[in-house]
Amino acid sequence: MALREILTAPDPRLTVACAKVVSVDDEIRALMDDMLETMYDAPGIGLAAIQVGVHKRVIVVDVAGEGEEPQPLKMANPEILDDHGQLSIYQEGCLSVPDIYEEVERPAACVVGYLDEHNQPQTLKAEGLLATCIQHEIDHLNGILFIDHLSKLKKSMAVKKLTKRKKLQAAS
Ligand code: NI
Repeated sequence: MALREILTAPDPRLTVACAKVVSVDDEIRALMDDMLETMYDAPGIGLAAIQVGVHKRVIVVDVAGEGEEPQPLKMANPEILDDHGQLSIYQEGCLSVPDIYEEVERPAACVVGYLDEHNQPQTLKAEGLLATCIQHEIDHLNGILFIDHLSKLKKSMAVKKLTKRKKLQAAS
């Protein structure tokens, strides 16, 4: 296992639609393990392969709180099969959008279909934070960041802040 570098916005590599995984093989399993390690190290509760520069439909998620048993989920080709009519609002952040936290409205619950690490099809009913997190990660696979859900004004403020942050980092 190895830590991978997390890309941060603005970066054109984060705005690409990712390709489906043909089969979950050793290479994808190694990627999933690296992604989990990178996510726990950050720390974060979700990570999509695109965030480490791999344009494949792979995500990892663990929304267990501090002191709770880890509940790692590894998903290839995750897809929302159904969502609840009801919406909920969470304050979201993202490892690729450092230091920005904004409220985003999404379906409060969803059913997600995916391939697990053994290449077996699974479905999972998710609600609350887990549902939000999975939807946020699936957005990444379509090149969408949570700031894309904000108003034009809020988004342009966020992009300005991120661009400034990058310039400062490049200069230091
Ligand atoms: Ni994210």
